[in-house]
Amino acid sequence: MAKNSINFLIDHIDPLGQGVFKKHDQIYFIPKTLPGERGQAEIIKSKKNIHFCRLVKIEDSSSCRIDPICPHFTECPGCHFLHTTYEDELKFKAESFKRMLAPIGSPEFDVIEAPERTGYRNRVQLHYHKRSQSLGFIKALQNRILEVPECKIFKSDLKPSFDELYRNKSKYLKKSKRPKGHVELYHRGDDEIKVSWDTRYASDGFTQVNEQMNKKLLECVSNALKDQHPKSTLDLFGGDGNLSRSIDGETFHIDMYPFERKDNFISLDLSEEESLAQFSTVVGNQEFDLFIVDPPRAGFKHLNAWVKKFAPKTLLYVSCHPQTMIRDIRQLEMPYKILETKLLDLFPSTFHFEAMTVIRFK
Ligand SMILES: C[S@@+](CC[C@H](N)C(=O)[O-])C[C@H]1O[C@@H](n2cnc3c(N)ncnc32)[C@H](O)[C@@H]1O
Repeated sequence: MAKNSINFLIDHIDPLGQGVFKKHDQIYFIPKTLPGERGQAEIIKSKKNIHFCRLVKIEDSSSCRIDPICPHFTECPGCHFLHTTYEDELKFKAESFKRMLAPIGSPEFDVIEAPERTGYRNRVQLHYHKRSQSLGFIKALQNRILEVPECKIFKSDLKPSFDELYRNKSKYLKKSKRPKGHVELYHRGDDEIKVSWDTRYASDGFTQVNEQMNKKLLECVSNALKDQHPKSTLDLFGGDGNLSRSIDGETFHIDMYPFERKDNFISLDLSEEESLAQFSTVVGNQEFDLFIVDPPRAGFKHLNAWVKKFAPKTLLYVSCHPQTMIRDIRQLEMPYKILETKLLDLFPSTFHFEAMTVIRFK
């Protein structure tokens, strides 16, 4: 056995979808493994007693293991659960979410599953390195790009453009003026596929990548608020107003990158502390019954200050990174009750999911 090889026995799956093996005071993370599995892994990177590994061989496999439908799965950093059934994937996600929720009183939650496990993304970003002529997903630990011409995660509408990129890869990379960068394919409801080279992710405005699950998310939002009848809503990190579109009453939206200037759409950087004072100047004495908060992965660290200032009756927090949602909720100083919590699987096959928590202030 090579010097940096280990024999493992997986204990559980962590929130990043990796198998965890502990021996003495050493912790090993081994992607693409399942609880109870034994085998060999290679340590790729270590930080003190924490080791990030690559699976080499499964010697004793779990009864939950299935053959992945994607030929790239074993190597690919994009999907994390195609070696098990969707039912088991949801079980692992629910176990992670349950552990995360402990600091806010372990509320019960529903799991809203996705109708499609693959073929759902309307936006996909591929990275390139001109010198190695590679195009695909970044394998951060190995500092290289994995080519994924058979990727199954995006909508079939993107397939012709995706295939064309790989077919004529050298022609496209030759045209690029940068040594490395990325290309994004986006399909939104019409027949047009937008291909953008080296622009910021979703540079023409954020939209949810899983349209079928976005519909379910909107149903959950609407059900959660059906008895609230807010007169005025503040949709923070509102994008194009997706979450508050069907809510009655007056709505103000804040986003750093509004699609276009519309009434009540305000452009502010909510990570800045001053954004609260700036917004207060714009809206004066306006009151808000309802806050909808849907930040990027970093969460909304000024949530408590905004709640104290406007004292909404209800807060509906939607998050693609439940850990930061829970951090923000823990910081709330106004007494509250959690009315409901949901795990919505907007990103099947990956460890990501969306969480929704509805809070009523007392
Ligand atoms: C997860 S998306 C939610 C968008 C919208 N609620 C939806 O459902 O489509 C997060 C939004 O936050 C915006 N955003 C990111 N960083 C921000 C910041 N620092 N201040 C304000 N908005 C920000 C993005 O432009 C994006 O529209």
